[in-house]
Amino acid sequence: MTQLSSERRTAEAIARLAGRHILRERAERLDVSLKAPDDVVTNVDKSTERLIVDRLRDAFPDDTIAGEEFGESHRADNADGDRTWLIDPIDGTLNFSHGIPLFCVSIALQVDGETVVAVIYDPNRDEMFSASQNGGAHLDGVPISVSSLDDASAAVLVTGFPLKRSAPFEATLDQFELLTRTCRGIRRLGSAAIDLAYVAAGRMEAFWEYSLKPWDTAAGILLVEEAGGQVTTVDGGPFDVHAPSILATNGVLHDELLELLQSVSGC
Ligand code: IPD
Ligand code: CA
Ligand code: CA
Repeated sequence: MTQLSSERRTAEAIARLAGRHILRERAERLDVSLKAPDDVVTNVDKSTERLIVDRLRDAFPDDTIAGEEFGESHRADNADGDRTWLIDPIDGTLNFSHGIPLFCVSIALQVDGETVVAVIYDPNRDEMFSASQNGGAHLDGVPISVSSLDDASAAVLVTGFPLKRSAPFEATLDQFELLTRTCRGIRRLGSAAIDLAYVAAGRMEAFWEYSLKPWDTAAGILLVEEAGGQVTTVDGGPFDVHAPSILATNGVLHDELLELLQSVSGC
């Protein structure tokens, strides 16, 4: 077993534990609050992040660990380069807080800023998406690949809207209208990590969104790339997890969708 596959397996096991914890805790006690205007958080987001951090720290004491709710929980000085785990304990918190069963646990290992292990676990459907660099992308252990559809008019796309009603929000509305007219369907699932996992699994042809955070996309981008897809910014530039926008596609439709999105982006 290579080093990365052992880390992928450990991350899968931790994500599964976290998923069970989320479903159990939701049934027992749910406290919903706002961490910023319109930005919901729950007691379960926090307890799940703690659970994941504790398990990762036990398994990989020399790695840095950072999550959405508590930031950098564990700093390690590793002479062999920067290894950082990026965690979104619940991606899709608004869905979760409303009892909508569309959310997931997202865990990524980055080495020197590049994702090398990715795990996205949907506890409601018991679906485990995982990938390791050059090791392919898998759903429940079975290899997955992006769709081969090359006709934009038959494509199904997915997006999300930024919280702030600023230029990217307006751009997304305009793009949503144009692509609703152009493509077969657009979905808005409320979990960027699930959106990316579904592009990787060939369930949808493309995902785009502005203003996401590193923990939203860190795992999903490796899934899409290892499944044969393409990831850039909406401007067509190289994507990294700090970029202001993302377009992840099956590759075949990438250039056509870039052109359509840019034709109305205004930002
Ligand atoms: C959110 C989801 C959503 C996206 C938001 C994210 P959270 O993450 O990924 O799909 O549109 O921008 O913040 O807050 O549920 O972890
Ligand atoms: Ca998120
Ligand atoms: Ca979250």
